[in-house]
Amino acid sequence: MPRMILVTGATGGMGRPLCERLAQSGDGIVLAARGRPALEAQAGELKAAGATGPIHVLPVDMADLQSVADFGKALAGLDVTLDGAVLMPPQMPRTDDPLPDAEVWTRLFQGSFIGPLALLKHAIAAMRPDPGAGRRAKIVIVSGISSAQVLGHYATANVLRTAWLGQAKTLAFALGPSGIHVNTVSFGGTLTAHYAGLVEARAAANGVTPDQQIAAETENVPLRKYCTPQEAALTVDTLLSAFSDHMTGINLLQDGGFTRAY
Ligand SMILES: NC(=O)c1ccc[n+]([C@@H]2O[C@H](COP(=O)([O-])OP(=O)(O)OC[C@H]3O[C@@H](n4cnc5c(N)ncnc54)[C@H](OP(=O)(O)O)[C@@H]3O)[C@@H](O)[C@H]2O)c1
Repeated sequence: MPRMILVTGATGGMGRPLCERLAQSGDGIVLAARGRPALEAQAGELKAAGATGPIHVLPVDMADLQSVADFGKALAGLDVTLDGAVLMPPQMPRTDDPLPDAEVWTRLFQGSFIGPLALLKHAIAAMRPDPGAGRRAKIVIVSGISSAQVLGHYATANVLRTAWLGQAKTLAFALGPSGIHVNTVSFGGTLTAHYAGLVEARAAANGVTPDQQIAAETENVPLRKYCTPQEAALTVDTLLSAFSDHMTGINLLQDGGFTRAY
C-alpha cells in the first residue's frame, strides 16, 4: 500500500536517491529542506519520472525554531497522515576541537539537535498509527558512525550523535505502545556528490587519483569501500518498511564493517 513519508534533507546527496526510490514505489512524499527552488525542481523531476503518489514541498530551516513552527502549521494544513518520517539533522562540521566555545555548542545543538527535534514533534503529530489494525508509523533518524565510537576528527559530532541515540531510545520506549517506531541508522562515509568532491580534493592534494585516494581511505574498512547513496537509500527505505515491524530503538550501523565493537 502506498505510504506518505516526510523526508528532510530531501534535496541532499542522501535525500535525493531516497526520494527517487520512494516515488518509484508509488509512495507520497513531503519534501523538506531550506531551498524552495531546489525542492520544487525535485518535485517536478520526480513527477516527470513517473511518480504516482502526491509530492508536497515544505521548505524549512531546521536551525530556526520560528521556521520549524511555520513548517508545523504548513504540515498540519496539508492534512496528510504520515506513515514515516526520515530526519536528517544538518551535518556537523568536522573538528578536532574537544572543547569548543559555548557559542559554538549553542549553535550546533540548536541547528543539529533542538531544531530537528522540534520538527520531529510536528511529524509525530501527523502520524495516526493503529497497531491493532496493522498500521504502524516509522521514524528513521539519519546519523553517523561517531554514534558508536569516538572519532577524533568529529569531536562535536561524537557528542551530538550520542545525544540523538539517547533521544531515539527514549522516544522508542515512549512511542512504541502507540505503534510508532524510532530507529537510527549510522552511516560511515557515503559517496554523495559533496563527499566525492571532498575525496577528489584530497586526491588532488596528495597527487593521486580519486580511486587511489578511496583505496587508501578505506584500508581500515573491511569491505574496502564507501557506501553509495543508493545503498543508503535502500537501508532507510528498508527501515521504513515491514522489515522493522518488531524493531525499535536500534542503531543500525552501515559502515562497511568499520566499527570493531560488538
Ligand atoms: N554523506 C555522508 O558521508 C554522511 C555520512 C554519515 C551521515 N550523514 C548524514 O546524512 C544526512 C544527509 O547528508 P548528505 O550527505 O545528504 O548532506 P547534503 O548533501 O549536504 O544535503 C543536506 C540536505 O539537508 C538540507 N539542509 C541543510 N541544512 C538544513 C537546515 N538547517 N534545515 C533544513 N534542511 C537543511 C539541504 O538542503 P538546503 O541546503 O536547501 O537546506 C540538503 O537537502 C546528514 O544528517 C548527515 O549528517 C552523511
